[in-house]
Amino acid sequence: MNVGEPDGGDSTAPDPDGTRTEREPDPEPEAVRSAEAVFGDGMPLARRYADLLTGSGTQRGLIGPREGPRLWSRHLLNCVAAAPLVPRGASVIDVGSGAGLPGLVLAIARPDLRVTLLEPLLRRTTWLDEVVTELDLDVRVLRARAQDCALRADVVTARAVAPLDRLLPLCLPLVRPGGQVLALKGDGAAAELAGAEEELRRGGISAEVVVTGSGAQTSTVVRARVPAGRPGSRAAGRGEPVHGDACPG
Ligand SMILES: C[S@@+](CC[C@H](N)C(=O)[O-])C[C@H]1O[C@@H](n2cnc3c(N)ncnc32)[C@H](O)[C@@H]1O
Repeated sequence: MNVGEPDGGDSTAPDPDGTRTEREPDPEPEAVRSAEAVFGDGMPLARRYADLLTGSGTQRGLIGPREGPRLWSRHLLNCVAAAPLVPRGASVIDVGSGAGLPGLVLAIARPDLRVTLLEPLLRRTTWLDEVVTELDLDVRVLRARAQDCALRADVVTARAVAPLDRLLPLCLPLVRPGGQVLALKGDGAAAELAGAEEELRRGGISAEVVVTGSGAQTSTVVRARVPAGRPGSRAAGRGEPVHGDACPG
């Protein structure tokens, strides 16, 4: 169903007093109701982010035109379902953030996190910067490729960036000792994990598939934990905070 089609949402309900403010009906009322439960106080911000994605985000090619009508069910709920896997107060680098998925969703749902969005394409970082300003989020946007960065964070997230055997070499060097990579994957997660066994064994890293959330809001995540004593191969080695910077440009 497209945005704006009548779907039995709130704005088509009777309004005998004529006091209701008109707004577009939710294209996915059930998904939005699920989102309200998980975003809690962050729901107004999540709605504004969703509006930006379906508006300027679509016009400027950040997300495909078919994604708007399934934004909540396919994207926002999928991303926010991973939030419980992130420890309280963690620093987070979202590699290949694109339109901010999952990094901006995590920042909205979990204001305790310190989130950095890492994205190499200027067109995308320009839009992300605008969104961060518009939503008044304390989120950093960095234009760089993961392999060119010497940053560290407690948690490195990635969604739809690369298969696990290519993704892990990009993400693991950005993880602080004792931290983790959370790779949001689909049904093929277990097969991808099997294909990345060699890479994991070499680094002495344990990994598992975790299905988090419930009902419409599940996410299949590969969680790879970096041992506490493991020195990073690219990062500066002192476990400096991610907001300390070390990216080109
Ligand atoms: C298919 S998009 C996914 C975007 C978003 N994570 C999502 O789930 O919708 C992949 C993104 O990864 C970025 N990317 C590709 N290679 C990268 C690299 N080496 N380091 C950082 N980002 C990269 C691309 O620019 C693109 O924005």
